[in-house]
Amino acid sequence: MNRLRIIPLDETVVFPGMSVTLPVDAGSDDRVLLVPRRQHTYSKVGIVAEVSERMRLAGRGVAVSLTGLHRAALGSASADQDGVLRVDYEARPDNTPPGTVTRELEREYRAVVDEILELRGDDGRIGAFMRSITNTGALADTAGYSPDFNFEQKLQLLETFDVVERLKLALQLQRDRLAELQVRKRIHDDVEGGAQKQQREYFLRRQLEAIRKELGETEESVVEEYRGKITGAGMPDPVRQQAERELDRLERMGDANAESAMIRTYLDWLLAVPWAKRSEERMDPVHARAVLDADHEGLDDVKRRITEYLAVRKLRSERGMSETRRSGVILTLIGPPGTGKTSIGESIARATGRQFVRMSLGGVRDEAEIRGHRRTYIGALPGRLVRALRDAGSMNPVIMLDEVDKIGADWRGDPSAALLEVLDPAQNHAFRDHYLDVELDLSHVLFIATANVADTIPGALFDRMEVIRFDGYTTDEKVAIAREHLWPRQVERNGLRVEEVATTDGVLRQVIADYTREAGVRQLERELGTLLRKTATRIASADQTTPIAIDAVAVRDALGRPKVFHEAAVRTAVPGVATGLAVTSVGGDVLFVEAASMPGKGGLVLTGQLGDVMKESARIALTYVKSHASELGMDEHALDGREVHVHVPAGAIPKDGPSAGITMVTAIASLLSRRPVKSTIGMTGEVTLQGRVLPIGGLKQKVLAAHAANLTDVIIPERNEPDLEDVPSDVRDHMTFHIVQSVDQVLALALEPAVLAMAA
Ligand SMILES: Nc1ncnc2c1ncn2[C@@H]1O[C@H](COP(=O)(O)OP(=O)(O)OP(=O)(O)O)[C@@H](O)[C@H]1O
Ligand SMILES: [Mg+2]
Repeated sequence: MNRLRIIPLDETVVFPGMSVTLPVDAGSDDRVLLVPRRQHTYSKVGIVAEVSERMRLAGRGVAVSLTGLHRAALGSASADQDGVLRVDYEARPDNTPPGTVTRELEREYRAVVDEILELRGDDGRIGAFMRSITNTGALADTAGYSPDFNFEQKLQLLETFDVVERLKLALQLQRDRLAELQVRKRIHDDVEGGAQKQQREYFLRRQLEAIRKELGETEESVVEEYRGKITGAGMPDPVRQQAERELDRLERMGDANAESAMIRTYLDWLLAVPWAKRSEERMDPVHARAVLDADHEGLDDVKRRITEYLAVRKLRSERGMSETRRSGVILTLIGPPGTGKTSIGESIARATGRQFVRMSLGGVRDEAEIRGHRRTYIGALPGRLVRALRDAGSMNPVIMLDEVDKIGADWRGDPSAALLEVLDPAQNHAFRDHYLDVELDLSHVLFIATANVADTIPGALFDRMEVIRFDGYTTDEKVAIAREHLWPRQVERNGLRVEEVATTDGVLRQVIADYTREAGVRQLERELGTLLRKTATRIASADQTTPIAIDAVAVRDALGRPKVFHEAAVRTAVPGVATGLAVTSVGGDVLFVEAASMPGKGGLVLTGQLGDVMKESARIALTYVKSHASELGMDEHALDGREVHVHVPAGAIPKDGPSAGITMVTAIASLLSRRPVKSTIGMTGEVTLQGRVLPIGGLKQKVLAAHAANLTDVIIPERNEPDLEDVPSDVRDHMTFHIVQSVDQVLALALEPAVLAMAA
């Protein structure tokens, strides 16, 4: 039995082959026994270690370097005469077990460790170390190096003398560890995206901090800067208090905190609102009218209504009358594209000395777009109104709510509800954006809304609107607009001087008639742009004597063959086709209703993207014609065993409304009587089963379209006669209007005499 000095290791296990340096005194002994202990309980197994070096420490103590040799089973311990604790032991070096089972285990163990090393990202050194170990027991003992195992686990390894058992134990431990690492890696991979972003932000922030320091802007000075800005912003008291509260939070928090960035963004937005800024407002109606006249041709009625509106506002404010629910109607400009709604809004701003901002509501379906997201929401931002005020830089701009007919509502909330609040003078002095969460006074903003059509504007909103209609321009008006505004603007845009190009009204008229088909002037402006661009090219590339006269030939050269055809004559040459007048979201238009019949069960087939109301009109039309066949001088049995097909071609524009009623009757009657419809006639009117003609809407737009399509006669319902006053007189003078009450009047007017049909 051998006896060696005990060196206790507190909650530490040393394995054979390991080298450690311990601050203990080994006397003059060459070998010692390292025995792990926990709270005075010693392990039954120790490690015989060789003292390789003795050191004197800087203080008083000594230290020794030791290398583990082999295991030992411990016997009884007692203090020797020299007072040193020594223990009896039996050496238990590892034996080398034979057999394939062991080799299998070894292979398995190495494989598991390799995987762990791969996950861990070993630089190859541990791998090499593992390969250098050939002894089974030593291989199992390598688990003892792992920082992932606790004292108990290592102790268990130490106390297992049998190398195969020990290797099995080590394998089990390593397997558990591998599984854990794999799970951890998966989680890590999942969050890595986010973590990397955070890390990036952190580093950027550190850099920013460094730059700030370099510039002498310490964190303190950032806070001070905000404080200065807040004081200077002229915020209302509650807003200022809110800003200061946030600033205090920022100060306490310090810059490295992720939330501080959010607070700064918030403060930036608060400061972006032009709290104390107001443009000097001009409320002079005479001046306003002059500005409107300078910017826009025609639109007399529109300008008068706008001027009146401004005059009323002026009076009310001079007399200190506060805005009430009734007084605060919203000016709303409704009309087809390119008729100058947006641009007259800009003129109003100019006329009243206010800033102008446009806020497009097309496709907005989310209340938060208007009102902002609450700050708790990641990536929250203020709503459009706050942004509009920021862009305007003043609290009393003209804000144009463009395309109010195109807002939608869904589960995200109803934007029109938020808009109502914004537009209500009883509420809008205390508008609350969700993000800013302070009260904003919008009562000095002049809101103007625009829309292409009235029917899709949310009802509650429409109730509060004062509608001004833009119905589109006559050819003469377009010529004037082109001459006074579009032409000079396009001349300049194409780098030309006004005196370099000359044109005439006749040429402008040619462009309008042959190359555009629209209620407004947008396409016209584009065509003029093209024309002038080609001219500019000519001037730039050759020595041209100016002024260059732009004539019909030049137009043809630059714009190609006419794009618009007046097809009424061609289309209505055969029986069964009638020319109707309609209003769509792009303005008035002519449309052709075609009827045909074919063998069948006797019914009605409808095509051409017709809405429900229009389908109903078609049914009414067919029933009417069938039941009045003999009065209409047609063969009552012409439709026996046949079905009627009604088609409304022209584009993919969905068509609806009852106003095509008489056109459908006419088309079907024309088909059955084999009398074609007069090619110069357009018509509009709803029809009842009794054959009465009911009034329709949008008469002016329809008449303008008929005029532009070269129709000379228009059939209109009696009750629409007063609307003819809205039609500009130059158009009225060129056209004949037929006022009707019943369908037989329509047919008498519209169908060619029967004899003619025979001849044809
Ligand atoms: N009466 C007019 N006098 C001078 N220019 C006009 C007139 N009407 C329209 N314009 C010009 O036509 C162009 C198109 O007008 P604008 O953009 O205002 O149309 P809009 O009615 O707002 O159309 P949308 O419904 O498509 O928004 C502008 O450049 C505008 O200046
Ligand atoms: Mg517009």
